[in-house]
Amino acid sequence: MVQTYYPLTDHAADLKRADKWPNVGPQVDKKDVLERRAPRSLSALPALRSVFEAAPVISLIGQTPLVRLADAAKELPTSVKLYVKLEGLNPGGSVKDRAALFIVWEAMRSGALGPDKTLLDATSGNTGIAYAMLGAALGFPVRLMLPANASPERVQILRAYGAQLTLTDPSAGTEGARQLARELANAEPDRYFYADQYDNSANQLAHYTTTGPETWQQTDGQITHFVAGLGTGGTMMGVGRYLRERQPAVQLVGVQPERPRHGIEGLKHLATARVPGIYDPELVDRIIEVTTDEAKTMASRLARQEGLFVGISAGAAVVAALRVGRELTHGTVVALLPDGGFKYASAPFWGEIN
Ligand SMILES: Cc1ncc(COP(=O)(O)O)c(C=O)c1O
Repeated sequence: MVQTYYPLTDHAADLKRADKWPNVGPQVDKKDVLERRAPRSLSALPALRSVFEAAPVISLIGQTPLVRLADAAKELPTSVKLYVKLEGLNPGGSVKDRAALFIVWEAMRSGALGPDKTLLDATSGNTGIAYAMLGAALGFPVRLMLPANASPERVQILRAYGAQLTLTDPSAGTEGARQLARELANAEPDRYFYADQYDNSANQLAHYTTTGPETWQQTDGQITHFVAGLGTGGTMMGVGRYLRERQPAVQLVGVQPERPRHGIEGLKHLATARVPGIYDPELVDRIIEVTTDEAKTMASRLARQEGLFVGISAGAAVVAALRVGRELTHGTVVALLPDGGFKYASAPFWGEIN
């Protein structure tokens, strides 16, 4: 087990405003993140070294590839470039490896996730998979509440990693699962560390520290528009703040489902959902709404025309990025694709779209 933990944040202050961001720790401070080249991989962060030694799989998190879309973007002027960041290539298969790692790291450092404690959270899947992977690698138990309609692939992956699952009423959605997790954590505080990805600032800090710098470097600072789906908002808050600090003119475009009941796993309809504590709407320049059909059609198109097998929310991000791209005469648009298509493989739509 890992014995030494280093400060990630000195206090759990409200991190909603960029000017309130504290240093992220003596060994990974904000100045470092801004001025140094982003580390080639997270293992270059000294503060994480002891964790990597205990669980080498963690060193594979981050530094995901950025690739230019060819076929899907051919309707755009040649001076408009459309790139996608393939977060499905993280070891746990999604962007959530980053957030989960920072949440766990901070909890271990502060003692909130001490020996004999179980990590507890509500998750529609990807964050749970990331916690389960980290729990397996670092040796702490993981208990998850997830709506019973989560895709069967996700449930099987969680079982493979050894997580304890409670399937909740699908009609109550992720909110229902959250409510149950909160109640359990309140009832047995000595037993559980409630990770609460929606209100946990380590979520966005992961993206501020890793995803943001990577995206900036991979585009040689040329990025003009960043497009990402909004679930907890962690990706958009962290990457958005980092990019804003580097380039105030950068446009931050959030993607959400067009209606409250939808099939884009991982995304929230913010007008009707409880707004996550870490989400600051003022940071985002624009929200683009996408239908489930549009997202699925694009996911299928990306598989068939680009050879990129990505998830449904990734399809939604590309639909939105193309909408942005069509309005431009020049620019560099980056869409973040949260996961690969494998977890949705049993969905019928893949074969139905030409
Ligand atoms: C598939 C998928 N897409 C998008 C997101 C949204 O990311 P974030 O929570 O950082 O807003 C998630 C989050 O769980 C997800 O699982």
